[in-house]
Amino acid sequence: MKSPPKDPSEHLLHGLLGELTANATLVISGARLARQLKVSRWAVWRAVEHLRRLGVQVRGHPATGYQLAAVPDLLLPELLRPNLRSPLFGRHIAHAFRIDSTQAAAQQAAQREEPEGSLFLAEEQTAGRGRQGHRWNSPAGAGLYLSLLLRPSGPPPLLLPLMLAAGLAVRQAIAEACPVQPDLRWPNDVLLEGKKCAGILLEMQAEATRIHWAVLGIGINVGAMDFPDELRPLATSLAEHCPRPPTRVGLCARLLELLEARYRQAQEGQSAAIRAEFERASSYARDRRLVIGEEPETWRGRSEGLDEAGFLRVRREADGELITVVTGPVRPAGDNREWENSAGAAGTGGEPQGC
Ligand code: BTN
Repeated sequence: MKSPPKDPSEHLLHGLLGELTANATLVISGARLARQLKVSRWAVWRAVEHLRRLGVQVRGHPATGYQLAAVPDLLLPELLRPNLRSPLFGRHIAHAFRIDSTQAAAQQAAQREEPEGSLFLAEEQTAGRGRQGHRWNSPAGAGLYLSLLLRPSGPPPLLLPLMLAAGLAVRQAIAEACPVQPDLRWPNDVLLEGKKCAGILLEMQAEATRIHWAVLGIGINVGAMDFPDELRPLATSLAEHCPRPPTRVGLCARLLELLEARYRQAQEGQSAAIRAEFERASSYARDRRLVIGEEPETWRGRSEGLDEAGFLRVRREADGELITVVTGPVRPAGDNREWENSAGAAGTGGEPQGC
């Protein structure tokens, strides 16, 4: 039996888009594209079809030639670069139409000693990673999936304030694009009307006193998304709340600018200011009844702000003890929907519970 044809290569897709963009007002014949890209006309046609599936509007067909009908909202370096206002973040950009995980790509780059601020973007992830081993639902063209390679100076405890700071940046980027006020669920989920629209994953390689590198991964559900059944009650996208959702390129550029400012703030040791801002921006941080942990090991209490390190303090209902919560999940008590902390993730476990 013949095996199904493979998807067009990243190289061919980038080359084809480059040709179409450079000749945006012209119809280019399939034969000329094939010559320039050193592939068959059939391969050109398949690559055009692939781009169309990603939402790129290409007019024409093999007999007439092809023409770009509109500049696509793809996260291509050529489209992103002119919008960037972050001197460090995005200095080097690697874009993939489809990748297992931008997080994995950034970590490999870290091992190759690639520079700080290198940015890894994808239209689609086939094995997007969420926190606590969950998967991140990453369909083509519907979200912003990015990872940034960082080389922060300082010991590992610096990373929690950095993660909180990244949450503030994501929240602001979304707030500027949406009429609905986003909320932050400790440590770093961004919610719109109680459902998760963005998540942050910060991974690192470190020794006790020094971080070698960190990779900051951010996933934002931007366009209309067909969420898997188990995520539908938990997850949302900007498209569900914004009459005019932002372009991914515009959102990405603004997010990088905000992230870079927050990174500087964390590097300058301003953790107290970050914590205070997080407490103001998050309805979870203070005076909220919460359920902590995963079934069957949950307990309840009321939040009392963040401690010096950035961990959540919760007064346990059962005995009045003040507990430092070092990991989630955290959900509001009395809400039997938000039982899981990784609403962007697929295949999550746990049991919804009424309170
Ligand atoms: C979470 O569980 O809330 C964190 C989700 C982080 C997802 C992003 S998408 C881009 C980057 N690549 C990954 O594989 N994961 C992060």
